Amino acid sequence: MQENPLAAGLGLPREPPPLSLVIFGASGDLTRRKLIPALFSLHMKGSAARMLITGFARRDWTTETFRARVRAMLDAEDAPAAPAAEKDAFAARVQFVRSSFEDREGYAALGAIAPDCPNRLFYLATPPDAYQSIAEHIREAGLSDQSRGYSRIIVEKPLGRDLASARALNESFASGFPEHQIYRIDHYLGKETVQNIMLLRFGNEIFEPVWNNRYVDHVQITMAETIGVEARGRYYEGAGALRDMIQNHMLQLLSLVAMEPPVDLDPDSVRDEKVKVLKSIKPIRADGVAAETVRAQYAAGIAEGTEVPGYRQEPDVAPDSSTETYAALRVSLDSWRWAGVPFLLRTGKRLSRRATEISVHFKRPPLNLFGGRARFSAQPNVLVLRIQPREGITLGFNAKIPGYASDMRTVAMDFAYGSAFAEDLPEAYERLLLDAMVGDSTLFMRKDEVDSAWQFVTGILEGWAEEGAAALSFYGAGSSGPEEASRLLASEERRWRRL
Ligand SMILES: NC(=O)c1ccc[n+]([C@@H]2O[C@H](COP(=O)([O-])OP(=O)(O)OC[C@H]3O[C@@H](n4cnc5c(N)ncnc54)[C@H](OP(=O)(O)O)[C@@H]3O)[C@@H](O)[C@H]2O)c1
Repeated sequence: MQENPLAAGLGLPREPPPLSLVIFGASGDLTRRKLIPALFSLHMKGSAARMLITGFARRDWTTETFRARVRAMLDAEDAPAAPAAEKDAFAARVQFVRSSFEDREGYAALGAIAPDCPNRLFYLATPPDAYQSIAEHIREAGLSDQSRGYSRIIVEKPLGRDLASARALNESFASGFPEHQIYRIDHYLGKETVQNIMLLRFGNEIFEPVWNNRYVDHVQITMAETIGVEARGRYYEGAGALRDMIQNHMLQLLSLVAMEPPVDLDPDSVRDEKVKVLKSIKPIRADGVAAETVRAQYAAGIAEGTEVPGYRQEPDVAPDSSTETYAALRVSLDSWRWAGVPFLLRTGKRLSRRATEISVHFKRPPLNLFGGRARFSAQPNVLVLRIQPREGITLGFNAKIPGYASDMRTVAMDFAYGSAFAEDLPEAYERLLLDAMVGDSTLFMRKDEVDSAWQFVTGILEGWAEEGAAALSFYGAGSSGPEEASRLLASEERRWRRL
């Protein structure tokens, strides 16, 4: 049989050692929506053959109840098709410990499960205020011991709500687990298209020479959602767009786009370079927020053809809430490579289109050779890295319109993951779980990355608090965001990419 050329290079095996995985918060939303589907996918690929999975939560469930739940999750309407026998086999491998996080006996029960298994991975799919107690109980029960294998914890966002609380949270893990045993997940880093940023930059010769302030005019990073706050009003009221999206996902994207080449692919070499970017961000403080930031909230409008309420009318949201559902920043990096190049970040809910993308906008050619004769002038080249949807890369460049005149138009060279590779992209959680199992922490955030990101964001939060709620703008649901965002462009020549 002829080999499918699109499958070349796919599916390189990464075999985790025998391990016991415990999911704290196994009756919660994250376990149902992300973790069980990801683990089942690993099971189907043969990467979970030597793994024992234990759910831990306080709900009155038994192992049988949990198995039935897991089986139902695999049968959900949006779950990928798989043979029933495989689903049964997977469900038969999970078990459940019913316990509160504060109860020592629950941890003793965990210790009794697979006592000879040398490797332990603990996933904290729980409210963050439980992290400290869980980490301490694990240590007390002797389950963080690494003398025979490894013991690691995976923790979820939010990792604090400002610099002080993030530091306190980091301290709380440190009592039970040293830094190299802690895996802080940002699921964005598990997306193929995000990992591809480094490959694009450092695996090709043609991009890196122009990846600097000589050729790049500015960079835009957009994370736009069409959905509103949905049922998460209570959480979102205490967070807002800056904490929810920019502090973690968007600053991670920024650091991957702006970093210097690492000396090698060792996790710490990569993260060292990312931290340098975060440290080079010029702080935005009280005297800078008015010029460098925009915050706004969605008002009622029409989203995807349906009338929708404004943020203040959503469930669990205060009628006079000043929480921002949209934030845009002009970020400057004090670095040799990027001095003078603005990084324009924007994120929002209830916008006209769902898109996560990074666009690198190049400068115009030094001489407008065709200006006099052409009816259309040359547009700057733009390289767009589409993180989602329609994952891929597009390069916009100018081409001559056929005919006798020298007219030109921007055309696109387009790479789409969907058509270039003969395989669906793996879910981010699948990749990240496997990485944690095999001990590759490259795609997890190190303590100093989280710290540097919070340092920057806390300056803005303090500036906003000083400025007061009057500085909040509004935009209609279903629109492309507030008018005020255009002032961050700081040039007639620049435009936000259309949403
Ligand atoms: N859901 C997502 O898509 C998502 C995305 C990104 C990050 N996260 C983060 O992931 C974490 C979990 O989110 P989630 O949405 O899954 O939360 P959730 O649905 O509220 O689930 C919380 C889980 O923790 C358990 N729990 C809480 N307090 C407990 C206690 N004292 N003792 C024992 N069990 C306890 C609950 O068990 P019982 O209900 O049985 O009591 C439940 O299983 C949070 O930090 C969240 O911010 C979630």
